[in-house]
Formats: sequence, structure tokens, C-alpha cells
Amino acid sequence: MRILLLGSGGREHALAWKLSQSNRCKHLFIAPGNAGTSQCGSNAALALNDFDGIADFCTKEMIDMVIVGPEEPLVNGIVDFLRSNMNLSGLMIIGPSREGAQLEGSKAYAKAFMHRNGIPTAEYREFDEAHYEQGLEYLRQHPLPVVLKADGLAAGKGVLICQSTDDAVSEFEQMLTKSKFGKAGNKVVVEAFLSGIELSVFVLTDGKNYVVFPEAKDYKRIGEGDTGLNTGGMGAVSPVPFADDSFMQKVTERIIKPTVNGLIREKIDYVGFLFIGLIKVDDEPFVIEYNCRLGDPETEVIIPRLKNDLVDVFVAAAGQHLDGIYVETDERVVSTIVAVSGGYPETFLKGYPISGLDTKQSADSIVFQAATLQHDGSVITNGGRVLCVSSFGYTIPEAVSRSNKVLETIYFQDIFYRKDIGYEFQ
Ligand code: AMP
Ligand code: GLY
Repeated sequence: MRILLLGSGGREHALAWKLSQSNRCKHLFIAPGNAGTSQCGSNAALALNDFDGIADFCTKEMIDMVIVGPEEPLVNGIVDFLRSNMNLSGLMIIGPSREGAQLEGSKAYAKAFMHRNGIPTAEYREFDEAHYEQGLEYLRQHPLPVVLKADGLAAGKGVLICQSTDDAVSEFEQMLTKSKFGKAGNKVVVEAFLSGIELSVFVLTDGKNYVVFPEAKDYKRIGEGDTGLNTGGMGAVSPVPFADDSFMQKVTERIIKPTVNGLIREKIDYVGFLFIGLIKVDDEPFVIEYNCRLGDPETEVIIPRLKNDLVDVFVAAAGQHLDGIYVETDERVVSTIVAVSGGYPETFLKGYPISGLDTKQSADSIVFQAATLQHDGSVITNGGRVLCVSSFGYTIPEAVSRSNKVLETIYFQDIFYRKDIGYEFQ
């Protein structure tokens, strides 16, 4: 089978690493990929918003399956585009339709979907510019803290947790009248703050059946002890110790099943991953957000734990046969630690050579590259989150300490990583 994987992050390196282990994968292309993915297949210089170029590539290279990694092309309708191409009938695609991707692309759409389907989530109201005054009124009587969310995709920056009404009013004004988040903030969701501990649950659905992948917890803040600015993710662990059977049973009955049934009942075309961001309040699960893709860096801990052949799983999803798949999970823990460019998530420099990538690592650790580029025979940094080290262990501290040890052998100018991933599970 000839497979095209779209994306260029650590998530895509982990997927490429796993796909390339399948006997059914005859050729793997990653577009645009990074220096790490080129070890698992061939990188192809395609832009993710160039749908015509991607369709032409699929025809020319006789691609059998396309897997879409990141959210943006999904929200922009790449799946509908490829499906409507006459030359590509029979192409298997892993990724939801534009409508399905709205679960991530519009917070208001996702909240309305949850409301219609009785899925537990924070109380909310949505406001656009025409309802600005009502929004202010709502905010003035809202208990604190209050959460403001730009409706559209805002590169992970569109959620604000406001501790004072003045702050909330000022942010609300900036989003709706000063385009703080551009078009993404043309509509604002105002929601109640939920206090609890978060985890990520990953469901793959074929539009009829679903399977659940291992759950994970990510560490979003830049600083140790979960302090400082939010990032794309500084590390992750899987499994999550507090996600015991009884809690996961509640997640299945109250969240996963109503979500998949809602997609079916509402005839929303969805063949792909659904990443459910959950918060455990006391012992009850609530949905914080839906994403229409796998998480990053969560993929780098859940994919190493997956024992199945990933191509088998994707073929079953594309053919609506996921009821025949039993997800087999390695019982060991996997942790990952992300190494970032100094200054990230604010300003940082790139183009620094990375050393230590050739060091032979133990069978218990894998280096997944993210923002890396092959340049003049060496690998250089090419963004904020540069690479991550995933390690197996029988306990979280053991896995984390293995990743930390490997990171001591990797260097680039101003490298930074958190040494306390999994700190609350010692
Ligand atoms: P999102 O982009 O929706 O994932 O939100 C980013 C982060 O904001 C989440 O991971 C939570 O930590 C936090 N957050 C979002 N909504 C709420 C909420 N209703 N209550 C508490 N925290 C929230
Ligand atoms: N790690 C969070 C995300 O992928 O959105």
C-alpha cells in the first residue's frame, strides 16, 4: 500500500515511525515532514493548504491512503475536496469532513453539538458583535473565574481564563471589536470555569463503530510545576493513573457513546480521530474541548503503546470495519519530554545544529523529531518545539528518568525542557 501522511510535527514522526513498521506499507510519503520523518519514508514538498497539489500528488504517486495529521487542512475541507476528485475514487482517507472538523474549528459549533446530545460540559453562552451589549451584561453577572474562547482556530491561544470581571470585559471587547484573534474571534464563547484535573482521550471512529486508543495527560505550561505561559505541549504520559476503570466507564457511557451516536444521528461524515479534552471534576468527567485529530505530544506516548498494526486499523476505519479491531496496548508506561528552542513560546531563534541525534539509544527510548530540518548534511532547529524523547518504563518516574537521560546527550543552542514531567505521579 502507498500511503501519504500529511503534517510535519512530532505527531507525524510518531505516526510515520509506526506506519513504516507495517508489512502492508510499501511506500510512505510524509508531506511536508521533517528531518525525522525522512528516516521512515520519503518527505514530499507539498504545502498543506495546496489541496490541488496534494490531489495531483495522490494521482501521480498512486496513493492508496491519505492520513491527515493537523487540524487546519481538515477544518478547511481537505477531506471533502479529495473525496470529490473523480481521479481519486477508492482513495482511503483518515480524517473527518469539513463539517465534522467543525467540532474543533468552531467552539460554538462544538458546544451546541454537546448541548443537543446531552454531553456534560461547562455552561456557556455565545456572542457575536451584534450581541455585544448582551455579552457585557452576561459577563458582569458571571461568577469568577470566567472563561472566554475565540470561536475559531487561534493556534492554541484563543482561550482566556479571566480572574476579574474588568479583565473579562476588556478581553471580550478586544476580541469582538478589535479583532484580537482576527476572524477566529468574531464570535466568543463565554463559559463557566471548571476546576479539576485534565486528560486526553482518543477515539478513532469509522462513522459507525469506534475504538478507543490509550489515554494520555499532557503538560501545557512552559515551566516546571505547571507554571508560566501555555505552549503546544511540553511533555505527556500514558496511561493516566487517575483514569481508572470506573472513571473510564463514565467517560464511555456519558461522553464517547453520545458523541459517536450524535455524529451518526446528525449525519456528520466522520472517519478519523476524535481527541476529547476532558476534565475530571470531583469524580465526574466533563468535556473541555473536542479536536478533530490526534494530540501533540500525546501521539508520541500513545502510538508507542499501541501493539496493533496501524495500517490494519486505518484500513478497517476506512472500510467501516472497526468493529473487527481490538486495540492492544502495551501495559508499560510511556512518557515523552519535549525539547524546545530557548524563548519559546515567545520569540526564539532557529537554524541551530542539533547534536546527539546519532547516538544509539536504548530500545526503551525513541527520539521523535518535530521542528527539525535537514540542512547541508546536518539537522538544524526549525521552530519552537524541536524534538521529543519518548521512553518506556514500568512506572512514570522510570520512564521520565530514561527520557531525561537521553536528553542529556542531545544538544542545540539554548535547548530547554522540563525535567518534572509526570511530577504529580511520583
Ligand atoms: P482549549 O483550547 O479549549 O483546550 O483550552 C485550553 C485550556 O484552557 C484547556 O486545556 C484548559 O486547561 C483550559 N480551559 C478551557 N476551558 C476551560 C473551562 N471551562 N474551565 C477550566 N479550564 C478551561
Ligand atoms: N497537546 C494538545 C493538542 O495537541 O492540542
